[in-house]
Amino acid sequence: MGTTGQFGWRHLCNSILSLLLASTAVATTSPIVDNGKVAILNGISYYVGGVPISKLEGVSENEFDAAVIPGIDIVPLTIIRTSETAFTKEILESTVSNYSALDDVFQDGFLNAIYVSYDGPGKGTLDVHSANGTFQAGINKLLLASPNVYSWNGPIVKASLRRNIPKGPYFVSAKTGDIYKAFRLYKDHQLAFTEAALSDEKGGFIPLPAVTEGAMTKSVAVPSRLYYMPTKEKPLAGLRLGVKDIFDLKGLRTSGGNRAYYDLYPDRNATGPALQRLIDMGAVIVGKMGTVQFANGDNPTADWVDFHCPFNPRGDGYQAPGGSSSGPAVGVASYDWLDVAVGSDTGGSMREPSGKQGIFGNRPSVGAVPLDNVIPLTPVLDTAGVFARAAETWSKVVFAWYQDFKSNYTYPRKLFYPSASFPPADTNAGYLLEDLVVKIEKFLGAKRTHVDVNSQWNKTHAAGTPGTLTELLNTTYAILTSVDQYRLLAEPFYVDYAAEHNGRRPFINPGPLVRWAWGQENGGAAAYDVAVKNKTIFKNWWESENGYGTTNEETCSEGIYIYPYSTGETKYRNVYFDGPTAPPMGFKDGRIASMAGTPDLVVPVGEVPYNSTISLKTEYLPVTMSFVVARNCDLMLARLIRELGEAGILKSVSTGPMMYP
Ligand SMILES: *[C@@H]1O[C@H](CO)[C@@H](O)[C@H](O)[C@H]1NC(C)=O
Ligand SMILES: *[C@@H]1O[C@H](CO)[C@@H](O)[C@H](O)[C@H]1NC(C)=O
Ligand SMILES: *[C@@H]1O[C@H](CO)[C@@H](O)[C@H](O)[C@H]1NC(C)=O
Ligand SMILES: *[C@@H]1O[C@H](CO)[C@@H](O)[C@H](O)[C@H]1NC(C)=O
Ligand SMILES: *[C@@H]1O[C@H](CO)[C@@H](O)[C@H](O)[C@H]1NC(C)=O
Ligand SMILES: *[C@@H]1O[C@H](CO)[C@@H](O)[C@H](O)[C@H]1NC(C)=O
Ligand SMILES: *[C@@H]1O[C@H](CO)[C@@H](O)[C@H](O)[C@H]1NC(C)=O
Ligand SMILES: *[C@@H]1O[C@H](CO)[C@@H](O)[C@H](O)[C@H]1NC(C)=O
Repeated sequence: MGTTGQFGWRHLCNSILSLLLASTAVATTSPIVDNGKVAILNGISYYVGGVPISKLEGVSENEFDAAVIPGIDIVPLTIIRTSETAFTKEILESTVSNYSALDDVFQDGFLNAIYVSYDGPGKGTLDVHSANGTFQAGINKLLLASPNVYSWNGPIVKASLRRNIPKGPYFVSAKTGDIYKAFRLYKDHQLAFTEAALSDEKGGFIPLPAVTEGAMTKSVAVPSRLYYMPTKEKPLAGLRLGVKDIFDLKGLRTSGGNRAYYDLYPDRNATGPALQRLIDMGAVIVGKMGTVQFANGDNPTADWVDFHCPFNPRGDGYQAPGGSSSGPAVGVASYDWLDVAVGSDTGGSMREPSGKQGIFGNRPSVGAVPLDNVIPLTPVLDTAGVFARAAETWSKVVFAWYQDFKSNYTYPRKLFYPSASFPPADTNAGYLLEDLVVKIEKFLGAKRTHVDVNSQWNKTHAAGTPGTLTELLNTTYAILTSVDQYRLLAEPFYVDYAAEHNGRRPFINPGPLVRWAWGQENGGAAAYDVAVKNKTIFKNWWESENGYGTTNEETCSEGIYIYPYSTGETKYRNVYFDGPTAPPMGFKDGRIASMAGTPDLVVPVGEVPYNSTISLKTEYLPVTMSFVVARNCDLMLARLIRELGEAGILKSVSTGPMMYP
């Protein structure tokens, strides 16, 4: 059997025969609930969702018989929407080839049944037979058309959709005509996700009730890209988004990277406003992603006791991913099927994983988005940022998300360059960074100003404040985070857990446990007030004429403070670290944005070689640089970054071992 057409019979039969259906129905309560199915079509796994989104009417079960194999109720279906008055074989071929190019969910197996919906004025004609008939013979067993297609050639069944749905691949029940979205199942082989999610089609989410094979791996379901078309109101339509598992999503539990916490609290009854804004803009949430426990700072080997640390794909694959937004960064650096991911940053939790994975990732101005329904570290410093592989994608999300800022500025003409922070220009990383700095100077028409924040403070600090920044800020971050998280999270968690578990304490990873205790032993609430005061002293200085965070009417930010974020150093997962003893102390470039509440964005710059002790080969690790601008200048920065991308100065990175293979 088999014709030699573009879509041969052999191919078609294989696709039908491999439509293996495994019921994943879970009987939680009586009666049994249909929780969807896993279908394998030409070797690719799909989730056939439990929530139908429309219905094909006018097709009898008999008519579906042509396309369904006996005993299996599901038919793969492609919906084509056209306003071509005369829909021909050539147009059909072109449509199918465009679908394949644009979408990773669509494949020829969905041509088993085709529904052509004519959306143009008046009546259309449908003639997909060629003189030699190859297309018709090859594509499908069932061709359906909307009623306003008045003439056709060959065996076409007139049908209609109860509810209009977008073009693309679907599954349809032959028994009921119910139409289900097609979700391709991908393996989370880097352990970036904590729980995969599906829309409940009612504004909430359900845990994805499907798995495929793979050691320790989950499956993540992504819908067809063909369903979505960005508009002015929904600029993020179809953008696949993963979310750090400290943000609540309605219908799912929140783990915070802690098993007891996940088990104790029920499904969340609300999605926080920050995520809701992204959903309203069209983003498609595909799951919750790994976090260092309660967004603190664990090393992979010893400290990630409760959950396994996600795997950084760069280099030999056994380098620490950084934290605390480890899962979101790993996912974006690993999977082409994931577009962006959201995490949080208090003291570097977006920036550090951006540096380790070599991707775009930011902390915004404090207050850029509301953080209700998010596990707090400290409301004084907490922010929510986004990871992306491309400057354009990153700035698109930032523009949609941080709505309270203006973007209409000219660019700053000052580039603040802390010379002591940069590696020598004759090192691999130093060379890459210097090359970028020179290009940015050219783009802005500015020459760098050499600065040293520590000595500037020493020269200009206010009377009555300490002579060094370290003296002022050594413990400020440690106190704010440890005291606030103990008060806001640990205490109520302990009480709730004890009530449910006969007075027991829940397990807490060593990192957060040590930090909470340190905060209580080092002044608690009293020290907290001093910390807020010290933070404010620094912020005011940074924004004064003596600091580097001054605002400017025309350029929003007087200047841009740049510093290297990562320079390709190794941090192997299999190296044992000393146990944690205290929260992070001291002052460094990365503390500036946290203490002054300003944006800080890490961008990929390049990669440098190292000799891996794991693979025994030369591998490459990311070099990245940070941009700090004045508070509330996030959108000026987003526009600049988009234009640096358009100018080829900032380049998109690939997924996998190398950023620029
Ligand atoms: C397929 O894509 C090409 C290139 O964008 C476009 O010119 C063509 O019209 C598309 N075909 C159909 C049927 O939409
Ligand atoms: C027959 O089909 C082939 C493949 O689609 C096409 O290239 C050819 O032009 C067709 N011949 C006629 C006469 O339509
Ligand atoms: C959600 O649950 C909280 C308590 O956990 C309750 O205070 C709140 O009113 C609930 N919100 C909704 C929308 O049900
Ligand atoms: C941006 O600002 C300039 C002058 O500062 C003004 O001419 C222009 O109309 C503004 N554009 C928008 C879109 O607001
Ligand atoms: C600068 O710092 C040094 C200590 O490093 C201190 O002795 C000196 O008093 C400081 N200068 C001012 C003006 O505070
Ligand atoms: C910072 O504070 C810690 C904890 O109090 C202390 O051990 C350390 O010596 C301090 N570092 C500096 C440079 O003052
Ligand atoms: C605040 O600053 C003072 C110096 O003015 C310093 O002694 C103290 O340790 C700082 N405390 C915190 C919590 O930042
Ligand atoms: C890797 O090892 C080789 C052989 O010891 C050495 O020549 C080379 O410089 C090393 N490369 C790096 C990037 O360290």
